[in-house]
Amino acid sequence: MKKKELQNEFHVFFLGILYSVLKQEGWFDFLKTSRTPNDIMDQFHYSEPELINEILDILVSENIIKKTPRNGYEVINIEHEPVIVKPALFSDTYYNLWKTYGEALPNRLRGNFMKYTQGQNSGNWEDALKSPFYNSMREASFAFVNFKKKPFRLLDVGSGIGASTAQLWNHLYQKQIISEETIIYGLEPDEKFLHIAIHKNIEVLHFFNNKINLDELKKMQDFFPHFKQGSALKIPFDDNTFDYVYTSHMLYLTDPRKALAEILRVTKPNGTIFGTQAFLSKPYTHIWSLFMKVIEGANGYFTKKELAQWAKEAGGKDVAFATPVVFKFRKNSN
Ligand SMILES: C[S@@+](CC[C@H](N)C(=O)[O-])C[C@H]1O[C@@H](n2cnc3c(N)ncnc32)[C@H](O)[C@@H]1O
Repeated sequence: MKKKELQNEFHVFFLGILYSVLKQEGWFDFLKTSRTPNDIMDQFHYSEPELINEILDILVSENIIKKTPRNGYEVINIEHEPVIVKPALFSDTYYNLWKTYGEALPNRLRGNFMKYTQGQNSGNWEDALKSPFYNSMREASFAFVNFKKKPFRLLDVGSGIGASTAQLWNHLYQKQIISEETIIYGLEPDEKFLHIAIHKNIEVLHFFNNKINLDELKKMQDFFPHFKQGSALKIPFDDNTFDYVYTSHMLYLTDPRKALAEILRVTKPNGTIFGTQAFLSKPYTHIWSLFMKVIEGANGYFTKKELAQWAKEAGGKDVAFATPVVFKFRKNSN
């Protein structure tokens, strides 16, 4: 499937959920006459004006509502019906996860957050994080880095169930870069995910290394990644510890500036930071980003330009991007 079709599918999906959730709330009946953001806040007992404005901007850009004089908004097409179609790249579980976050939006507008795994069966995330959707993006980010065949320390920040760490381990193994002196850590704040990463380590590794017989893989246990609990906002490692720091689909779930500063702190001078992260540029990422903000601590998507600026401010250099979702940069030498 072409990139454009794919993005269009995501867009239809996220817009369908947004439309359906707001319709159920009664937004479009209420907007049959012109209303201001304050009217909407009062009517539905909302407490988050920034998010209301974000939603109104999205609905205007989608021609669902229009602006009227004196900061008003009014619905254009009241017959419009929500259509929610699962994108081909989404597994059923991933589809359900994002539907759940989208449906939590009214609650968020009233000031209540969701925890990342709250209300979710972590098994759903386990399935989603092993899906081709994530795998293809992670593989692209590994290919963007020139790993040197010498001992190194690598940290995967926000390693989840350990899928990203295992896939990276496999990539390095295939390139014969893993050695006794290679040290790989995964850092993850969520207990449910960390439990899977630690207790199903070999299972997750085998999922990404199924060409290696399980018994052979078990013999390599000394070289397996280690996992530690902790947040990107306070990385429990000393300054200048890692040659490589990887992060996949994590920065939008936290405060990205603080996380980048911490990531750079633990990276050695001239060390490489690389990762995968969708950026805020296309309409679908705006709605996706909005849904992400129901999660406690999440700031949502940002632009490539912002990432480049924050990386430089925190002591990074040589920021580069490949494919719509892959980035890398290095830490300054001094
Ligand atoms: C979409 S998952 C990606 C997991 C993994 N990197 C992968 O590609 O399979 C996002 C992960 O970021 C973690 N996360 C959220 N906030 C974080 C923070 N402040 N520090 C570190 N990890 C965080 C979540 O708990 C979750 O495991």
